Amino acid sequence: MSRLTVYTDNNPETPVIDTTDGADITAKLKEIDVRFERWEAAKEFASDAPDADVLEAYEADIQRIMQEGGYQTVDILRCNDATPDKPAIRAKFLNEHTHSEDEVRFFVEGAGIFYLRTNGHVYMALCERGDLISVPAGVTHWFDMGPNPNIAALRFFDNKEGWVPHFTGSDIAEKFPKFEKAA
Ligand code: LAC
Ligand code: NI
Repeated sequence: MSRLTVYTDNNPETPVIDTTDGADITAKLKEIDVRFERWEAAKEFASDAPDADVLEAYEADIQRIMQEGGYQTVDILRCNDATPDKPAIRAKFLNEHTHSEDEVRFFVEGAGIFYLRTNGHVYMALCERGDLISVPAGVTHWFDMGPNPNIAALRFFDNKEGWVPHFTGSDIAEKFPKFEKAA
């Protein structure tokens, strides 16, 4: 279940907010300009469906997000048993970083945790199938796809070059709970 847990950034032991209510998650994340939505597919599709079927099933929401955010392209990233170097990919994005463009992701399959550090807090957002999250450009964040990811995610881009991560060099991610569940 999608879940938002908020900590002060110097106390990873005791959350100040912990909720699985979708409307609550959306409202709390909106306070830091992060968009969170739950989408319903217009059509059923198999977990190994071609990209075109996935894009068709979510077409109305995809078009809305592209228009509202001014994004030019959308693609599908898959990370699963067939992906080599999963531990290295997991480790890379566990380092706190920023991008010069928004990071907008929709979970078609699987789950992962986005951690956003802003205003002296860490927002830990567990996203699952059907969840859209957008991290605004410049917001420090990291991501945990867990030890056994099975992720298919839509990615919205304004300009793909903007997605390059700029690492902050902070080790803050090590202090916060990880995503240990098999996605
Ligand atoms: C990224 C995430 C995982 O930059 O933060 O793709
Ligand atoms: Ni990122």
